[in-house]
Amino acid sequence: VSLAGMNSLGIDAQARYFVSVTSVDALRQALAWGAEQSVEPLILGGGSNLVFAGDYPGLVIRLAISRRCWENIDGDEATLVLGAGENWHSVVIYAASAGYRGIENLALIPGTVGAAPVQNIGAYGSELRDTLLEVSALDRRTGEEITLTNSLCHFSYRDSVFKHEPGRYVITTVRLRLSRSRPFSLEYRDLADYFDGEDTRSLTPLEVANAVMAVRRRKLPDPAQLPNAGSFFKNPVVSLKTWHALQQSYPDIAGHPGDNNAKVAAAWLIDQCGWKGYRNGKVGVHNRQALVLVNHSHGSGQDVLALADRIRNDVEARFGIALEMEPGVVGRP
Ligand code: EPU
Repeated sequence: VSLAGMNSLGIDAQARYFVSVTSVDALRQALAWGAEQSVEPLILGGGSNLVFAGDYPGLVIRLAISRRCWENIDGDEATLVLGAGENWHSVVIYAASAGYRGIENLALIPGTVGAAPVQNIGAYGSELRDTLLEVSALDRRTGEEITLTNSLCHFSYRDSVFKHEPGRYVITTVRLRLSRSRPFSLEYRDLADYFDGEDTRSLTPLEVANAVMAVRRRKLPDPAQLPNAGSFFKNPVVSLKTWHALQQSYPDIAGHPGDNNAKVAAAWLIDQCGWKGYRNGKVGVHNRQALVLVNHSHGSGQDVLALADRIRNDVEARFGIALEMEPGVVGRP
């Protein structure tokens, strides 16, 4: 089966075996079949955060569990229960249209609900962990479906227990605790600029989601038009000491200093090395956001990874900072 339409970089890798599952029972059966045949399973959501380095020699299981319902409605708060196969952005619009706040800044992030906790998706000052109540997952070690509360997920920037123990859990359900009255988070520069001079007190969550969509569309390519996997590297986290030293040498360096450390804008580092808008026939660097690698024309995973290596080497040589890739790499070259 070709996976070209199932990964947002549009890489034409083949899966040896493929199945789409719409229930936890079907998921168990698929995993059992994989074990019988001694083929390694790969759980696939929206395929928006991975690079196929080559064909996948095992069993690709596409998680297509749908479910959307409300639980424990209490005053202004309510829990939104979601199947792992739901499309993330549709859920954002659904919740915002119902007047619930908490995930509107995460509009237009590609991928599925089940993939969202893995990298603790975040944008414009919000992260999934701010609203996530709990995650249900099939623990492949025991075969049991378990529930992990927010704190057990060990969330941090683009990170969670699901990254630390790869392959152990298959997320089946996500519960979000949303509110009709929690304050919006509008401090992120691009969003603050968007609403500059406007009275933001009467905004609805849908209006905030629409603003986020407008801001994203200005800079980030739509994978349906120009295949990409979002930010290709994490923003490197450095000590405040390193941050101040960098600022001495590069007064206009972009980043977000916090209380204990600072996040350097990887886009700025890459941009400084002259990569923005670079294109070599097949793959390249987006011309409005240097952190996004794009597949212009039938590039392979190897083409994308080779470009990523060149960028990483340049940034390391110039700034002494090692960039870490954000998407996962799967498949055999
Ligand atoms: N910048 C440049 N050159 C560029 C782009 C940006 O110098 O080509 C500088 C600008 O000065 C800007 C700074 O870098 O102020 C930061 O850029 P931006 O606000 O676009 O955000 P980012 O740090 O590059 C992160 C997330 C995005 C998320 C945005 C908005 C990561 C790895 N990426 O990008 O997430 O949408 O913030 O919150 O943390 C993703 O993970 O796939 C993703 C798109």
